[in-house]
Amino acid sequence: MRGSQVKRQIALIAHDNKKPALLDWVKKHRARLADQSLCATGTTGALIARETGLRVRRFKSGPLGGDLQIGGRISEGKIDLLVFFWDPLSPHPHDPDVRALLRVATVYDILIATGPATADAVLAGMKP
Ligand code: PGA
Repeated sequence: MRGSQVKRQIALIAHDNKKPALLDWVKKHRARLADQSLCATGTTGALIARETGLRVRRFKSGPLGGDLQIGGRISEGKIDLLVFFWDPLSPHPHDPDVRALLRVATVYDILIATGPATADAVLAGMKP
């Protein structure tokens, strides 16, 4: 982190069909994201860390409770931005967890980005 920049807590999650899009987004904003504190569900985090070299705190895989772990962090006030590229065109066994995560993120009124367009806009709107 440089100077007086505010370090943001950013959670990254992508369903399998959306992982390439999230990886592209992270690569596009790599320099900015390198100054933030990143966490992710297990598979998403492993992919991002491997492909970008960024430090990412990894929780469990989404279907194994990772979404709920991140939801818990949100309820503790420890996440500023949820970047969640969820897939509305595929069924997911952990759909209740997905709904719980989106619900708690809305309850706590944190920033939520569900695709590249919103994620670009949210990041652009964040103070450096
Ligand atoms: P994953 O979980 O990063 O472990 O694939 C994402 C999800 O399905 O919620």
